[in-house]
Amino acid sequence: MTYYTVANVAAVKISMHITLRQLKVFERVAQRLSFTRAAEELYLTQPAVSMQIKQFEETIGLSLFERLGKKVYLTRAGEELYRLSRSISQQLEAAEQLVEEIKGTEGGRLVVSIASTVHYFAIRVLADFCKHYPKVRVSLKVTNRKGLLQQLGENETDIVLMGQPPHDQDLIAEPFMDNPLVVIAALDHPLARKTSVVLDELRYETFLMREQGSGTRSSVERFFAEKGLPMSANMEMNTNSAIKQGVEVGLGLGIVSIHTVEHELEARRLVVLNVECFPIIRQWYIVYRAGKRLSAAAQAFEGFVCQEATRFVAASASPLE
Ligand code: PGA
Repeated sequence: MTYYTVANVAAVKISMHITLRQLKVFERVAQRLSFTRAAEELYLTQPAVSMQIKQFEETIGLSLFERLGKKVYLTRAGEELYRLSRSISQQLEAAEQLVEEIKGTEGGRLVVSIASTVHYFAIRVLADFCKHYPKVRVSLKVTNRKGLLQQLGENETDIVLMGQPPHDQDLIAEPFMDNPLVVIAALDHPLARKTSVVLDELRYETFLMREQGSGTRSSVERFFAEKGLPMSANMEMNTNSAIKQGVEVGLGLGIVSIHTVEHELEARRLVVLNVECFPIIRQWYIVYRAGKRLSAAAQAFEGFVCQEATRFVAASASPLE
């Protein structure tokens, strides 16, 4: 007679093929300690249940049940396996539930990464999205263009909202809204009194610029280079808020997305200058990795972005006209 300890039960398990069906039948018999009741509950015949258990025992080389008198008992090995099979079943149930959640929009997790510049728009979309899908757990990451490309590269995010991504990366990118970049100034800035400003007048102005790695920054640099104007980033700030505040207190001019200054324009804390060749029209894109399997929640979010963009544009009073 061989005695099996927990350790050698585990060792035996490694080299065998237990089917989920065997585990399920075993678990039910172990629960009821009756082959007959287990068979009834599983809609099987009693010989079919006995056969499954026999095969299971042969596979693992251990007896799982013992019959003493009229009663069925679990052997020591049976007790250990019962404990393990309960936990396997619970994990399988959790996996099934998770799959259902991911398939539907009833739950699951959605990781959205956005450019700091688009955050003014994205927060509204997210608020609306969460009202419609309250069970989806949303994780929002806000960073600049460089950070977003990194997250896409590392597959750390589901969906990204950003400026045009580079063509040499395997990305799906759909434009969803214009992103006009405008020149902003303090109300008492000398250029704010002018109805129009020629480009050359910017030559001697101090600019508050976004940091290296910002999409806004590289667009502005490209624009100045194309127009043959010197671009000295006299002051560098890594948030749009800092730039707006700096401009407001008279540190210089700023070039930012119109979507970032809605409130300040409304409150008459800043003005948009009517500069020749401005606004620089960029576009916002919804971006994800080619081959990425978007969950139902991510697909729903994609739809929301496009729908909200149309409403957002219609509702925004355009200070550019
Ligand atoms: P930002 O904008 O990096 O200037 O915040 C993002 C982008 O343009 O991609």
